[in-house]
Amino acid sequence: MKNTSVTFREAKAKGQKLSMLTAYDYTTAKLVDEAGIDAILVGDSLGMVMLGYEDTISVTMEDMIHHSAAVARGTKNALLITDMPFMSYQTSVYDAVVNAGRLMKEGRAQAVKLEGGLEVCAHVKAIVNASIPVCGHLGLTPQSVNALGGFKVQGKGEEAAQRILDEARALEEAGAFAVVLECVPRALAEKITESISIPTIGIGAGAGCDGQVLVYQDMLAMYSDMAPKFAKQYAQVGSQMKQAFAAYKQEIIDGVFPAAEHTFKMDETIIDKLY
Ligand code: KIV
Repeated sequence: MKNTSVTFREAKAKGQKLSMLTAYDYTTAKLVDEAGIDAILVGDSLGMVMLGYEDTISVTMEDMIHHSAAVARGTKNALLITDMPFMSYQTSVYDAVVNAGRLMKEGRAQAVKLEGGLEVCAHVKAIVNASIPVCGHLGLTPQSVNALGGFKVQGKGEEAAQRILDEARALEEAGAFAVVLECVPRALAEKITESISIPTIGIGAGAGCDGQVLVYQDMLAMYSDMAPKFAKQYAQVGSQMKQAFAAYKQEIIDGVFPAAEHTFKMDETIIDKLY
């Protein structure tokens, strides 16, 4: 059955945990969807793990639309959420609605995600009023990496923790259907989770959240530029890929690949007639 923002809200009411993974292309989306993951996030993390930038700042609307549309073609049941990239919504409420609309129309997203708290509540409200479901994102918000001074845990002190809790309540009030909590202490994530009626989706926020999200390259150990503490590695796909690439190279050198079963036959008497 196709998941929607409504089934997400219902899951929290029923106490059902939610699973989310990123995907950025058709093939991966199909695998994630077939594994039964509840939601696929086309994260702007694609700037780092797919495009090789050092952060998410340079990601464009065109990047997001291109990857979101590919993921949509591979997704049947998962809820497809697409990130609004840096400066596609911060500039004005008008820009926020127009760009959210583009992610839905051109990127075939079912919901959008944007980062920030009180400063984006008017934007969230306006997007929701345009019938576009919005997922919030609090704590470590990577688009603010320059203002935050790096990829650091957020909300450890009383003032910062209170601010994140207030922002989660404000996002719920603004109409968000869920909120991602990134890199906040476990106890704060638990407090937020019990204080709001929309699901919290944690990444580096502990098991008390209503759901979890990971970047798939992190959980498959494919991305070696950064290894976040919170990202459990479920398989060593990166090293398996490297081994396979090296074996392919060696078999080419050794003349082992391609073997007879990888080639096509013809009536070879024809070859003798060629001049
Ligand atoms: O861009 C992304 O992949 C994200 C997740 C880390 C939540 O926002």
